[in-house]
Amino acid sequence: MNSRTPPNTAPSSTPASLGDPTHTHPDMSTPNAQPQPPSGASSGVSGARVPSLGAAVSHHERARARESAIVAKEFSSWYGAFQALHSLSIDIPLREVTAFIGPSGCGKSTFLRWMNRMNDTIPTAKAAGLLTLGGRDILAQTVDVVELRRRVGMVFQKPNPFPKSIYDNVAYGARLHRNMSRGDLDDLVEQALRAAALWNEVKDRLRASALGLSGGQQQRLCIARAIAVGPEVLLMDEPCSALDPRSTAAIEELISHLAEEYTIVIVTHNMQQAARVSDRTAFFFEGRLVEYDETETIFTRPANKQTEDYVTGRFG
Ligand SMILES: Nc1ncnc2c1ncn2[C@@H]1O[C@H](COP(=O)(O)OP(=O)(O)OP(=O)(O)O)[C@@H](O)[C@H]1O
Ligand SMILES: [Mg+2]
Repeated sequence: MNSRTPPNTAPSSTPASLGDPTHTHPDMSTPNAQPQPPSGASSGVSGARVPSLGAAVSHHERARARESAIVAKEFSSWYGAFQALHSLSIDIPLREVTAFIGPSGCGKSTFLRWMNRMNDTIPTAKAAGLLTLGGRDILAQTVDVVELRRRVGMVFQKPNPFPKSIYDNVAYGARLHRNMSRGDLDDLVEQALRAAALWNEVKDRLRASALGLSGGQQQRLCIARAIAVGPEVLLMDEPCSALDPRSTAAIEELISHLAEEYTIVIVTHNMQQAARVSDRTAFFFEGRLVEYDETETIFTRPANKQTEDYVTGRFG
């Protein structure tokens, strides 16, 4: 999509490479990365969710038992000379909800946008360190960015449906990535709309413009559009901040359902929301990852005073 030189080169004053032996540059497209239709929210758990290991198992062992979706190691990024992210290391588990919290400007969106190379469109944006999806380097020059964005979908703060019909919005990615019969496409659109908890509200007006939907419906449509291409990870950057409490509740419930199948990273300024929907929470401050732990720990007994001040509303 973007032919600019991939941004995995740091400014000259910074280390260009970690020298990590795993920092190879394979192509993202693997034979087993074929698009899979979503199986619908009501169809229950698919794949291996990490089993509950019980209270006797140490936190450390639980952590090791988790499979990782996205891993960053000493990951830094810049906009020109300004360093926005400072040597972050984080392990985002598969099929869990991870919340990113922290005051405005601390780098949450920047980090999210590196995960599907949205920053490629910003000429001054550069990164260094390791960032992987399923063990493969996201920053590699050989990455097929279109395929990467199919695997790592994004939902934005402001719902951004295309000025097309409801049906065409959901079918858009499938038409781009997959060669499907009309009947299969119809099924896929229905499955994605059901998974996004929107089907019942729109099934009789699939050919109507998406722009005629309410804000909360538009956001669920954007989620349906994102999941119709069979992603592994869904990045959500303040997905509820433009929504009323009822639509927010609908999206939060949806997030919990979707986490049975997808890895979800959600940025939120709403502490109650982070506490309600996420399994793990990462607190960022001025481009640094201050603390990352089980959500319950972050909200009840954080290790860091800054985290405590932020989650209790004392600053930010
Ligand atoms: N395109 C850009 N060019 C230059 N600087 C940028 C750009 N985008 C973001 N920044 C800077 O990078 C830093 C991190 O911004 P980012 O948008 O990631 O913060 P954020 O944590 O998402 O904030 P918010 O909660 O307000 O959305 C800020 O200082 C911001 O001004
Ligand atoms: Mg942001």
